[in-house]
Amino acid sequence: MAGLIRIEVMHGVNLDMLGKREPEHYGTLTLDELERQIEGFASELGVQTRFFHSNFEGEYVEHLHSLRELVDAVVLNPGAWTHYSWAIHDALASASLPAAEVHLSDVKAREPWRQLSVIEDLCIASVSGKGVEGYRLALKRLRDELGGGEQQDDAAGAPGEAGGGEL
Ligand code: DQA
Repeated sequence: MAGLIRIEVMHGVNLDMLGKREPEHYGTLTLDELERQIEGFASELGVQTRFFHSNFEGEYVEHLHSLRELVDAVVLNPGAWTHYSWAIHDALASASLPAAEVHLSDVKAREPWRQLSVIEDLCIASVSGKGVEGYRLALKRLRDELGGGEQQDDAAGAPGEAGGGEL
C-alpha cells in the first residue's frame, strides 16, 4: 500500500463526557487527552489517524457512509449504540472497510445488556476492558491486517496479539 495507512477513529454517544463520567469504568482522561494518546500510538505504529465524534446516531451513520475511499480502516467505539444500533451495523457493512471495535471498560463483565455487540460480526478484532491500550491494540491489528507492519514492526507483536476476534 502506497503511503501511510489511514485509520478513522470514531467515538460515539457520550464519549465526549470522558473525564467526567464514571471514572471507575472509563478512566479519567478526557476525549481530547484520549485522542492525543491515540495519536502517539499511531505514530509509533506508523499509521495515520483521523478522529470523529458524535452524539447523534444519524450523523455517525452518515460519517460511516463518507469513509469509503477516504480511509483504509476504521476503529469504532460507538458507546451504548454498540449494543442495539442495527443502523450503525448496516452503515459499517456498507462502508466495507476493515474495522475493529474498542471499549474502554470490560463490557463482557458488566450488565447483561452490554454483553451484546451488534457490530462484532463486522469487526476483525474486539477489544474491551483494556482502557486506552485497547486503541493501540486495535490500530496494530488493523495495520497488520493491511500489511503495514512489515518494515517497521516492533517487538510488541507477541504471538496471539494479531489474531482475530477478541484481543
Ligand atoms: C463503552 C461501553 C458502553 O457499554 C457504554 O455505553 C459506553 C462506553 C466503553 O468504552 O467501555 O458509552 O463503549
